[in-house]
Amino acid sequence: MKINFVKQKYQRVEADLLVVPVASGESQKLNELDKALGGTLKDELARVGYDAGLGAALWRDGGGAIKADKVCLLGLGEQGEINHETIRRWAGNIVQKSRKVAARRVAIVAPKLDDADALVGALVEGLWLADYRFLDYKKEEARKAENKAIREVNIIYDGARSRAKEVMAQAAIGVLGAIFARDLVNQPSNMVHPRDLAAAAANIAEQSERIDIETFNREALTKEGFGAILAVAKGSAEEPYLVHLIYKADKPLERVALVGKGITFDSGGLSLKTAESMADMKVDMAGAATVLGVFRALMLADLPLEIHGLIPACENMPSGRAARPGDVITSYGGKTIEIINTDAEGRLILADALAYATKIIKPDIMLDLATLTGAAMVALGETVAALMTPDEELARSITRAAAATGENIWRLPLVKDYLPKYRSDIADIKNIHDDKWAGAIMGGLFLREFVDESIPFAHIDIAGPVWAAKNGISYNPKGATGFGVRTLLEWLRHLTK
Ligand code: BES
Ligand code: MN
Ligand code: ZN
Repeated sequence: MKINFVKQKYQRVEADLLVVPVASGESQKLNELDKALGGTLKDELARVGYDAGLGAALWRDGGGAIKADKVCLLGLGEQGEINHETIRRWAGNIVQKSRKVAARRVAIVAPKLDDADALVGALVEGLWLADYRFLDYKKEEARKAENKAIREVNIIYDGARSRAKEVMAQAAIGVLGAIFARDLVNQPSNMVHPRDLAAAAANIAEQSERIDIETFNREALTKEGFGAILAVAKGSAEEPYLVHLIYKADKPLERVALVGKGITFDSGGLSLKTAESMADMKVDMAGAATVLGVFRALMLADLPLEIHGLIPACENMPSGRAARPGDVITSYGGKTIEIINTDAEGRLILADALAYATKIIKPDIMLDLATLTGAAMVALGETVAALMTPDEELARSITRAAAATGENIWRLPLVKDYLPKYRSDIADIKNIHDDKWAGAIMGGLFLREFVDESIPFAHIDIAGPVWAAKNGISYNPKGATGFGVRTLLEWLRHLTK
């Protein structure tokens, strides 16, 4: 989808579809359009009781009076509530509406927003993110979708167009990263194995002079003592990996580590999941996909940072070789873990990666992203990620970045009082607690035990928002959302300011 910013009267723009924004209670401002369309528009708005709610559409024929074939009034909601995220969702709605009528050339009258950069960024992000489809295995639908897809969007825009182009180029990098992550998560587990995550990382490193890679295979993991990754991988026929990507700058101002959970399929292991809860478990490498998406974007970014991406990748399967409940393992660095439940596998592989980063990389800041607990979804629902950090400054910077990208992140407390629940009778720690409370927080508390207290650390449980159900956020088509990539990029960009 090609997007241009044009300075033109909307009456003169040639298009299959012209989209005009309307805020609630502002249809009286449509005098000019009303006249252009023959003076019946306002009557019709009144007749159908059009409320201009966000995404509410009213269709008209251009009727030859203007150059566009069709006109769609598209609601923005209440004037006082319009912000960049409203605009992003409004733009997502445009893509949905355009596909419905197979409009290939679309013109959009840009809504108004005080922050012109935010307006432009949100518009193009909403359009591109909503335009995504995963159709690798749908031959016929892929062809049809191609025929319906928008080819060109002309945004009728009064502001500075050269600046708009710059902002659009920045936004494109984030969207590219998010779509890279979506593609990886949407692929089924028989297509994305641990080795495929390693290959995706290798491919990124190969294409960028600034990005290096080190990959540990089973042999190297064994030699270095990654006992937790090896234990989780034991039941699977697939070889486990730990991938370490490094983005280098000449004079880095800070050293950051991003760790992503890469379970390419989570059956639960011997603590087997039910068929129902297992069905979507290809998403369990979404943390890894987010980190890879960020590095895909970093290929095109110039940041004065040293950024380490760590991806423990394996499959959690039951078999005669699988780790058993009750097994005691030694994680990287020596801490022993009693595995009570093999389905709490994410924290195990992350423990190894976090301990490795702590000891070898010694970053100034460390974040992990993981589809760690169903409890995070119980607490916050399907579209909100749970942020856990003892560091106020880090909580603030991540929350600010999320607010800027429209991704929803909410902080949960790491309640120290709960830590004794992890006391094991025979090992340093056990991998689950005995009661059913505060599952998301318990996940964060466990991970924190593998990071040195001197390193500012945040855990982000993304179990909910990495996957979109139908009728969710308009710019997230059903399936993988690429959640986290744009927020992490925004956060990284801001670290150096
Ligand atoms: N991968 C799951 C968590 C998950 C659930 C992700 C739903 C996405 C959607 C994780 O490995 C898991 O199984 N967690 C257990 C933890 C429990 C055994 C302490 C859970 O949430 O039930
Ligand atoms: Mn699990
Ligand atoms: Zn899992």
